[in-house]
Amino acid sequence: MNFKLFFNVVPALFLMGCAGNGGASSTLAPYQNESLSLDERIEDALSRMTLEEKVAVLHAQSKFSSAGVPRLGIPELWCTDGPHGIRPEVLWDEWDQARWTNDSCTAFPALTCLAATWNPAMSALYGKSIGEEARYREKDVLLGPGVNIYRMPLNGRNFEYMGEDPYLSSRMVVPYVQEVQKNGVAACVKHFALNNQETNRQSVNVIVDDRALYEIYLPAFKAAVEEGGAWAVMGSYNKYRGQHCCHNQYLLNDILKGEWGFDGVVISDWGGAHDTKQAIENGLDLEFGSWTNGMNWGASNAYDNYYLAHPYLELLKRGEADQKTLDDKVRRVLRLIFRTAMNTHKPFGSLNSPEHLAAARRIAGEGMVLLKNDNGVLPLDPAKMKRLLVVGENAVKMMTVGGGSSSLKVRHECLPLEGIRTAVGETCDVIYERGYVGDLQTEFDGVMSGQDLSEKRSEEQLIADAVAAAKQADAVIFVGGLNKSKRQDCEGYDRDQYGLPYAQDRVIEALVAANPRLAVVLVSGNAVAMPWIEQVPAVVEAWFSGSEAGNALADVLFGKVNPSGKLPFTFPVRLEDNGAFVMGEFPGGDSVRYNESLFVGYRWHDAKAIKPLFAFGHGLSYTTFEVGNVKIDRPTLRDKGSLHVTADVTNTGDRAGAEVVQLYIGDEESTLPRPVKELKGFEKVMLEPGETKTVTFEITPEALRYYDDTADCWTAEAGKFTAFVGVASDDIRGSVDFTLE
Ligand code: GLC
Repeated sequence: MNFKLFFNVVPALFLMGCAGNGGASSTLAPYQNESLSLDERIEDALSRMTLEEKVAVLHAQSKFSSAGVPRLGIPELWCTDGPHGIRPEVLWDEWDQARWTNDSCTAFPALTCLAATWNPAMSALYGKSIGEEARYREKDVLLGPGVNIYRMPLNGRNFEYMGEDPYLSSRMVVPYVQEVQKNGVAACVKHFALNNQETNRQSVNVIVDDRALYEIYLPAFKAAVEEGGAWAVMGSYNKYRGQHCCHNQYLLNDILKGEWGFDGVVISDWGGAHDTKQAIENGLDLEFGSWTNGMNWGASNAYDNYYLAHPYLELLKRGEADQKTLDDKVRRVLRLIFRTAMNTHKPFGSLNSPEHLAAARRIAGEGMVLLKNDNGVLPLDPAKMKRLLVVGENAVKMMTVGGGSSSLKVRHECLPLEGIRTAVGETCDVIYERGYVGDLQTEFDGVMSGQDLSEKRSEEQLIADAVAAAKQADAVIFVGGLNKSKRQDCEGYDRDQYGLPYAQDRVIEALVAANPRLAVVLVSGNAVAMPWIEQVPAVVEAWFSGSEAGNALADVLFGKVNPSGKLPFTFPVRLEDNGAFVMGEFPGGDSVRYNESLFVGYRWHDAKAIKPLFAFGHGLSYTTFEVGNVKIDRPTLRDKGSLHVTADVTNTGDRAGAEVVQLYIGDEESTLPRPVKELKGFEKVMLEPGETKTVTFEITPEALRYYDDTADCWTAEAGKFTAFVGVASDDIRGSVDFTLE
């Protein structure tokens, strides 16, 4: 008997034997064994890791990846932008394109559009779809969604977020996070917190009172973490209380990890870390994008110079940083890896599927907002026309590229003119006129739009040509708005004007004088001034609505889809009607003061009785609705109880449609100042013609609370309250009073 063979074979047989149940689990180390709890696996992995390996997993190794533990077979983490789709691959250490040919994606509508659906089911569909694309592209962390509050119409990144109201943002962010993460991909909710402008975003110190912080700016993040179960949160670039938010004692340790019990990973924004000791002690777990001193630390070994790299290791070796804090960070990163990269139960995802395009089209169609529709100009019926004129650069300009880190590379973007022409077919002629020249940029971070938007005609000639065509047309659709270029809807810059750029107001005024059957379509992610609103009969907010923008717009314009979107933020008539502009500072200097405090958006308009151009929650339909019979089941609410407000909504028109019934609550007797009313419930109701449904809202004491910054706690004060039921913040259809005992 060959003893060597004997002593090798028998143990192996024995091992297999004791794994007699055929399971391989006993040959796996605990950290690899998914039948064990996350905590058991984490402790086992931690016990096996060297000091160097622990530090290595806390910072980037490339532009969008961080190290695993190769020796233990613990995989690295791959992150990807962005909130609207999966960013094309970049080079290892560059922002420039890797020029892959298999990384085109579906561009889903911008999150303002998703919020404008006021339909959590659309948020779930969105999260599922984008999560599948991230999964297919083998990404572990999706750097989105963004839920920073819309404080001021000039913020360049408002298009990436979910509007001005904390309750709407909270309801709409949760399904997105939950559905993304069902793919084994982490949602990384951003930018935590108080990133409400782009000017000086890397350094501006936000000064805000605790009430506004807790009641306005944090709730959507809290919901994403506590209800959505977000596995990652991205710190924001700016400062709060003098500390950068990527390593901030108050926001990260006290609130996020302390009060909210967040068990995931705090990821820095790219370049948001600035100091080793602060990064160690103030809650940063995973450092990305640091550009340390901007000179010699840009070399390929820059990753070793990250604040949580060699500098941290040296402190640990000298006993100047404690092991406990290190291990907490490593535990969080290991938990993220086990939930994502090392999760073997993940679905396989999919990319550019018909289902994802259909989802993009459906969400876009549900999010578009019919702002005005006098004389039934919309929906248009091509069968009753000979000639339909489309005017405007945004009818032919790609919007899935540009805007900063949310820029995408799509296989195809259906633009408004294409969608309109596809829908009309041979029914009538569709003529196009440029109308104005906006931005001719065709390259965005290396992604070429492939468009040539060059134009020789003067501004005058362009308007003259559009007017001449308008006089010959049965109807005119103007497609303008903003775009994704600098100082429009774009990261890194704020807008420098509230009005439409590129002299579009002149074009619109000339067109409506030439042909009153004009519908203005705004492709944008921010409010704009509309000096022509009295003359123009129909206005649609179409948002940046992704790969299927044109088809979704045609669905709405020609009535295949009955619009049901509602504004997620106020359109003030003028900038001077905005609280932050008047009371606060914007954009401030080294610091910016949110003096308007709680009074953001409709809260300001209500407090000052300022009529908006279009209100938060406003949106029309091609049918009509009646909301009434507002009732309450009991006049008093006791501490642990709840009461119910009901309302009937009827479709009084001749076609099916959906209405969003909104519940606002006003505290009539409060010690501290409170807004006149605040959104505390909403429900989107689909109704056939003539159909009536009753909507029921449950009200609990929690809905009545405010943050008492004199006592540092949430409180609901006994006294009288009013429940307002309406279809917009400025369109209340009934109210009932009740008392909290
Ligand atoms: C950018 C953005 C952030 C993005 C990150 C990576 O600066 O602020 O939203 O996810 O860097 O591109």
